[in-house]
Amino acid sequence: MSTSPAPQFLCQLDDIPDGGARGFALSQSERSLDIIVVRQGRTLAGYINSCPHLGTPLEIFPDRFLTRDGRHLLCHTHGALFTLDAGDCIAGPCKGDRLPPVPLELRDDGQVLAWPPSDS
Ligand code: FES
Repeated sequence: MSTSPAPQFLCQLDDIPDGGARGFALSQSERSLDIIVVRQGRTLAGYINSCPHLGTPLEIFPDRFLTRDGRHLLCHTHGALFTLDAGDCIAGPCKGDRLPPVPLELRDDGQVLAWPPSDS
């Protein structure tokens, strides 16, 4: 029998730049799990910050996840590109793979919550 993890408060919506992305650390058991939240207006998408190619974080500098044109997530290690809305890798060494999704909730008062994935 498994219990569902409790959602964790991340920030207010306006703490994430519109058309941008920001990194957060979720508490998971006794560890911390790095995630990425992408914002487009009031639409949010969450992903585990681990490239399917080698498992490295996507960014080199804090919160620098997007390509220059803001249309894709970029893994800075070998240049893989991922769609913003689904985390699908469309170019690079892990093409056809995807970033693991993280469920998010945007509440009416602007709070952004995330559900840590269950431990596997
Ligand atoms: S580790 Fe991301 S493309 Fe190689």
